[in-house]
Amino acid sequence: MIIKKKHIPFLEVPLVEHCNLNCDCCNSHANYVKNSIYEYEKFKEDVSIISEMVHYSIVTFLGGEPLLCDNINEYINYARQKKLADVYRVLTNGILLEQMDDEFFDVVDVIEVSHYPEDKKDIAEYNRFLEFKARKHHFRYYVKNVGKFNRIDSIQLTDEEAQRGYISCSRIKNGNMIFNGYYYKCMRPKTTNLYLMTEHGIELKNDLRYTDGIRIDKNFMNILEEYLLSDIMLESCKYCLMGIETQNSSLIRIKQFGYQHPALIRIFYSSNIYYHLFKKMKKMILIDEAVATKKKTTYIETIEHNVSNKYLK
Ligand SMILES: C[S@@+](CC[C@H](N)C(=O)[O-])C[C@H]1O[C@@H](n2cnc3c(N)ncnc32)[C@H](O)[C@@H]1O
Ligand code: SF4
Ligand code: SF4
Repeated sequence: MIIKKKHIPFLEVPLVEHCNLNCDCCNSHANYVKNSIYEYEKFKEDVSIISEMVHYSIVTFLGGEPLLCDNINEYINYARQKKLADVYRVLTNGILLEQMDDEFFDVVDVIEVSHYPEDKKDIAEYNRFLEFKARKHHFRYYVKNVGKFNRIDSIQLTDEEAQRGYISCSRIKNGNMIFNGYYYKCMRPKTTNLYLMTEHGIELKNDLRYTDGIRIDKNFMNILEEYLLSDIMLESCKYCLMGIETQNSSLIRIKQFGYQHPALIRIFYSSNIYYHLFKKMKKMILIDEAVATKKKTTYIETIEHNVSNKYLK
């Protein structure tokens, strides 16, 4: 029997939840997590179930800091073996990049480095290193300069504000995530309890890791669609500004357009269009930044890149 797989553009896979940097306002709360990994056996179980039923355009391995995962190559290879996605991407702060073995640069399709002010190496060094590696191992790379973050956490939202944020939140469509047996719409449920307890001493009745996600088991495909399309916010949304902050971002509107046209996503990421559009869009992004700055925050990205042929196969 041939089962028609559901197509979803993006999936994020945090390999570990902790990090070797301590960015203020990290949207994954990595700065509150001491040591937490996506168990490899659990990952294999989850991927083998999901890959029977869903196919993704791009799977992104991230964290916390994904390069802290000792056997990252095995995770990527396993996802490949199960044909989980078309493209396998790693999003990293880059600190450990030079220590990675050759196999890593072989198994990955795209490496995206977020470069932070506290990193002593400069962007040019990353570009030189990645250009050198990409020549032999044929991956694409981007090094983006991250200035300041949006503030994402809040304990002041009313239920109506949270619900409105949820409805316009691009994460639901762009940020599906799996972790240790659960499927989530976004990265927030995993660590919201920890954030509230550590930062504010607030203990919730529910552990949102279990109540804001769905369990990945043989039955999960029957409830995935209902879960993803639900109009009712997650409990995590009450403590998250992501939907509200990004409501008017032109970048987010473009991503949402992409979600409605999944074939475009593949073309977009597999050509120079991504890079050139970003350059052109910088002006538009800056307008959003100006608006954001009036409130309280700025988030600046510049994208550098290199193209290899592997991606275009
Ligand atoms: C949580 S990080 C995990 C991967 C890796 N540690 C890194 O920093 O690239 C994933 C992405 O989220 C971005 N990010 C984290 N917190 C953010 C915030 N408060 N506002 C905007 N982007 C944020 C990071 O810059 C990074 O590109
Ligand atoms: S490097 Fe990435 S995961 Fe680590 S604290 Fe910064 S944003 Fe969070
Ligand atoms: S607003 Fe809700 S759905 Fe969106 S990122 Fe925050 S917690 Fe997730």
